[in-house]
Amino acid sequence: MIVSTNKSNPNALKLIIAGEISGNPVELRIVTASDSPLGRLPTLELPNGITLISSTAALQYLVPGDEQQNIFVNKWLEWDSTQLQPAVVSYGSSGSLDTSHKPRIWSLLTQLNASLKAQKYLITDTPSVVDIAIFSTLWCTIFMPEISKELSNEFLYVNRWLQDLEIFPPVKKSLANLAKLDLERGFKSISSLQSSAWYPMNSYTGVRTQKSSQEVVTPSSPAKEPEVITEKELETSRNNWSRPKHPSIKAPTYPVLPKKNQRNILITSALPYVNNVPHLGNIIGCVLSADVFARYARQRDYNTLYISGTDEYGTATEAKALEENMAPQEICDKYFGIHNDIYRWFNIGFDYFGRTTTPEQTEIVQEAFLRIKSQGYIITESVDQLLCERCNRFLADRFVEGTCPRCKYQDARGDQCDGCGHLVNATELINPRCKVCLQTPVIKASNQFFLDLPKIQPKLKEWASKAEKSWSNVARAVTRPWLRDGLKQRCITRDLKWGIPVPLEGFRDKVFYVWFDAPLGYISITKRYTQEYEKWWRPSEDAKVDLYQFMAKDNVPFHAIMFPATLLAADQGHTLVKHIMATEYLNYEDTKFSKSRGIGVFGTDARETGIPADVWRFYLTYIRPESQDSNFNWVDLATKNNSELLNNFGNFVNRALTFAVKNFKGVVPEMELRNDDLQLLVLVQRELSQYIMAMEQAKFRDGVRHLLAISKHGNQYMQSQQPWVLIKGNEESQVKAAGTVIGVCCNISCLLSALLGPFMPETSRQLRKQLGLDGSTYGYIPDTVSVLLPPGHKLGEATPLFSKIEDSVVEELRKKYAGKQDNGRKAFKAGETVAELRAQIAAQGAKVKELKAKTDNSVWQPEVQILLQLKIKLATLNEGSDGTVNTATIGVVKAENGPVQNGKTECDAVAALEAAIARQALFVRDLKASADKSVWQPEVNTLLKLKKELSDATGVITPNPGDKKSKKKK
Ligand code: MF3
Ligand code: ZN
Repeated sequence: MIVSTNKSNPNALKLIIAGEISGNPVELRIVTASDSPLGRLPTLELPNGITLISSTAALQYLVPGDEQQNIFVNKWLEWDSTQLQPAVVSYGSSGSLDTSHKPRIWSLLTQLNASLKAQKYLITDTPSVVDIAIFSTLWCTIFMPEISKELSNEFLYVNRWLQDLEIFPPVKKSLANLAKLDLERGFKSISSLQSSAWYPMNSYTGVRTQKSSQEVVTPSSPAKEPEVITEKELETSRNNWSRPKHPSIKAPTYPVLPKKNQRNILITSALPYVNNVPHLGNIIGCVLSADVFARYARQRDYNTLYISGTDEYGTATEAKALEENMAPQEICDKYFGIHNDIYRWFNIGFDYFGRTTTPEQTEIVQEAFLRIKSQGYIITESVDQLLCERCNRFLADRFVEGTCPRCKYQDARGDQCDGCGHLVNATELINPRCKVCLQTPVIKASNQFFLDLPKIQPKLKEWASKAEKSWSNVARAVTRPWLRDGLKQRCITRDLKWGIPVPLEGFRDKVFYVWFDAPLGYISITKRYTQEYEKWWRPSEDAKVDLYQFMAKDNVPFHAIMFPATLLAADQGHTLVKHIMATEYLNYEDTKFSKSRGIGVFGTDARETGIPADVWRFYLTYIRPESQDSNFNWVDLATKNNSELLNNFGNFVNRALTFAVKNFKGVVPEMELRNDDLQLLVLVQRELSQYIMAMEQAKFRDGVRHLLAISKHGNQYMQSQQPWVLIKGNEESQVKAAGTVIGVCCNISCLLSALLGPFMPETSRQLRKQLGLDGSTYGYIPDTVSVLLPPGHKLGEATPLFSKIEDSVVEELRKKYAGKQDNGRKAFKAGETVAELRAQIAAQGAKVKELKAKTDNSVWQPEVQILLQLKIKLATLNEGSDGTVNTATIGVVKAENGPVQNGKTECDAVAALEAAIARQALFVRDLKASADKSVWQPEVNTLLKLKKELSDATGVITPNPGDKKSKKKK
């Protein structure tokens, strides 16, 4: 196969690499654009003489992909050709990197970086076409050593991924050939892209569409309607219209139990850890998604139960308890309340929202364990655990870091590697280090229990191969490598305190670990709801249950592997998940949510914005990260509110109602359907059918869009029919027609009130009241469009449902939740937070000093505690990529050392400071190697400040950075 290309064209590199990877190296011909058909390069000439002029098509021809992955692949290829490449071109168009185009490229790279960080399947054993395409674009143009220092620092994952690919043998070989062929990286490549020679995807159509970055995360809007409406459709609509089916749906009565020969739907949302305040991303990931589905299911008259609750055991809770100076149970109570309030405000309609610290949970977990053990699926093994001798504690997975044994990523966590997604055992880490003190832990043996996953694997695999068909893409993508690579024994107990004890002599000081304990929470929480919980979890043959579980992608292994494996091992006919509805991640204004940096909207903030819960629900669903990570954006929120809710939906229903009130005495007029009316009904029917199809699969983004399409059709219909003109007409037929139009519009509004229910329950209720319906019933979601409000039906009063969100408000909110911008770098730049803490420390220090002078130990001691807590917080502020202030790490130390004593805590504070210094020093070192002074100087200053703090605390002076001599002396 022959690739013809002009010099330095990154798209040719794609084809060269693809050829190498597929084992069919291509032959390269350097030509000029004028030699090419249509002037487009590169082209790929196939053995049969056909020439492909779309480099994307050529790429996919060379490396054919897996069907399942196609949507994902196409998205990213499109992203590369319609977004990244144009952005690169404008960034480098002036012959140097033009910073006015920086935000655009920055936002794209941020997306990519986040994706690489989060999406395990983007880096697989063999690079995919997506890897090849994006790699080629970046490697050739801007991500090269001479010009990309800033980029490499900023986008660590992109950088590392590029480096990994660069040394992958087929890629390496291709790159070596490039040099021979006198192909150059850098501006030459950029201008090659810029030249007319480059036409990506659009080679098929000749149309070049430029999409904004907001759009890329939005799946393509509902497929374009075929223009023609068939006779048959008109006929069907006419028939359906007069055959209404609308059972009235009341709120469920307690307890909801599975019923014979009914569609029984059990819905769960992943149990959030109790000790965090959820942010918008968490909310749309689990509880809100599950709620939209639950409301939809109820409005379809399915027999539905929705349960969730907080996951309360584990080290994180213990740590939080120490941080806040409370007992673990008190912490759980407090945070359970916070979660509960937030979800209530968002109008999440759980049938029951429970928790895991209950007797039911203890009983169910212990019983399940004994049962599974008796079935032969539990093994005991002596486990080498990492013990930090300095901190005097076994290191839970989250407290150890090291190099991944598989991909050699240096900051792999103790349970999982963010580099390759591999699940690691902490003891397999190369060069492990204690996250608290950075000391190398020692290995010490202790007996633990394991779930024998390899033994269950055949059963699990058989189940998954059938079940996965109805899972979301990302759920499948995460699960497959697990089953493909073979499951390993999974340790389900730990030497910790805050948890459910192992019910066996000799092991009572161990507790169950989250893998085993948390998913069983679904069952125990159902038991709190009703004693007849087994009807849901061990259903009878004639009252089957469909289990839908909602979560973000990081929770997929719990639901696709651990929980089903546990239940299969118990072999007691438990309900296994049928639909794993996992989402990708939500970013906040192109960056990550971060509590400590004050970035993003957290549950408790939402209500303070003055924006109604329903609007939040609508917008979060609108941007739900279904097929890739998506982005929360204030301007977009306001735009969607103002254009879709206010101008489209609100306008339609309000016009219909006010017109009826004004001209028809608030009564639905007689309707005599003409062709025009039927045409509308056909269009609405199409959208309704697609709405239902989308909602059944929990594709809410599409659901919302079909809903909005209906009111759009409604507006167009009203506009073209002009009932306000008709009503003034002289002929009776005109007045009749006006009545028909308004009657139809009122009926469509009624349909809309039902379809809106899952997303905006309160607004739906208001609209139903305005339509003269009982506000306590839900709207039934019908399969067909029919008369819901018959002629003569008395309507209520029409008032606007939505209000405009002004630009000024948006700007204010955007600023308020933007934190201190730091280009995504570590928390040390979080000036506000750090400054705030320092101020608090200073104030507290003064207070202690004063008290010490005047009072005795019992008075000032507690104040010293507070001071130390603050210092620890400050010292560890650059921990944790999730942005949480990780005082957790230190808290646990104290837990295992008994009650907090002043001396002990002081030592911990010192250890924490030392750790922070070590980390910051490494950071500075890396920065100095790659960035210039303006970048590293502030970090050096931070380092110096930390050292000063340490010397204040210990009286010992440590050497300054760059002060090599003094270091050597020591
Ligand atoms: N609380 C855990 C987490 O957020 C586990 C949730 S999954 C569940 O990761 F199955 F327990 F719900
Ligand atoms: Zn340690």
